[in-house]
Amino acid sequence: MADHPMLFLPGPTEVDLELREIMSTPLVGHRSAGFVAATQDVCARLKGLFQTKAHAAFETCPATALMEAAIRNLVPHGGLTLHLAGGAFSERWAKISGYCGRKPESLTAAWGTAHSADALRARLAAGPQPHAVMITHNETSTGVLQPLRELAAVVREHAPQALVCVDAVTSLAGANLPFDDWGIDLAFAGTQKCLALPPGLTVFALSERAMAAAAQVPDRGFLFDFVRAVPETVAGKPLATPCVPLVLALQHQLRRIEKETLATRFARHLQMRDTMQRWAAAHAIEPFVKDEAARSPTVSCFFASGRDVKAMAERASQAGYKIDQGYGDLKGKTFRIGHMGDHTTARLDACLATLL
Ligand SMILES: Cc1ncc(COP(=O)(O)O)c(C=O)c1O
Repeated sequence: MADHPMLFLPGPTEVDLELREIMSTPLVGHRSAGFVAATQDVCARLKGLFQTKAHAAFETCPATALMEAAIRNLVPHGGLTLHLAGGAFSERWAKISGYCGRKPESLTAAWGTAHSADALRARLAAGPQPHAVMITHNETSTGVLQPLRELAAVVREHAPQALVCVDAVTSLAGANLPFDDWGIDLAFAGTQKCLALPPGLTVFALSERAMAAAAQVPDRGFLFDFVRAVPETVAGKPLATPCVPLVLALQHQLRRIEKETLATRFARHLQMRDTMQRWAAAHAIEPFVKDEAARSPTVSCFFASGRDVKAMAERASQAGYKIDQGYGDLKGKTFRIGHMGDHTTARLDACLATLL
């Protein structure tokens, strides 16, 4: 048994000792030359992670702050946002748009199913054209990975003025997301998921189109104003004090990811998904997501299938593993296992062996 409960939650996820140790080194000032250089280095390496030549930066905040910043920067007051909804987080984004005085419209897929390019095409052809289309790449509440490449291509073709905004909170660094090639305008992720760090920073990428669009939107605020904050952060001078230890750990983690390579990292996540599916099939446990192609490489969700989910989580906990007992209304009816970040199939096998 590990010396602490090992997290197989859909976030936050397990943080390796090597990264925890960096965060316990003596603090340095955020305006010191060394930390300025580290901040510049992190922003440069984030471009590689997002596979973009445009802009990449980070802010000290939960990922929800970037959901809100997307709306405030990229959509004028009263403007239409189209949300590909079908889970707790995509629905949250639509609510945030309304709270910000924009007009959210939801194109809905049933929880546990992926959005179809045809339905999106039909909606965009029917009009009116939205200012932005919001897509949750990996819906953590249900374990669905959206066909982002196809969906983004439909927006590019049928609503060329609309910005494609992507919540990549549980996909970035766990599933392929070539920002430039797929024509994305904004994508963001919190550090507590596939980056396998504690919560506290949100990393994001922004296209030139999105930066130009933001410059036209009034009242963007201060800290989350992309036009003001991104160039300053990239230059190593964030507008406000960042979470210094976490930035240094992120720098180290980005180096580790480069060493592993993105392709190997994505393949490792797919292997963990397949391990989960084989285990479930062997024990007659039914996947929540019927369509195999839509099953997430980072979060697997299953129906209880006659098992006592609470007892299962308790057994795992006794053995030193934390799993999730289902999101919101699905609590007890489903359970979720997060297999993201630095987890391996060997670690996952050890966790699964304790569940039943
Ligand atoms: C897909 C998705 N979007 C957004 C969030 C919100 O992230 P945070 O709690 O960092 O604001 C989460 C958190 O689990 C998530 O899974």
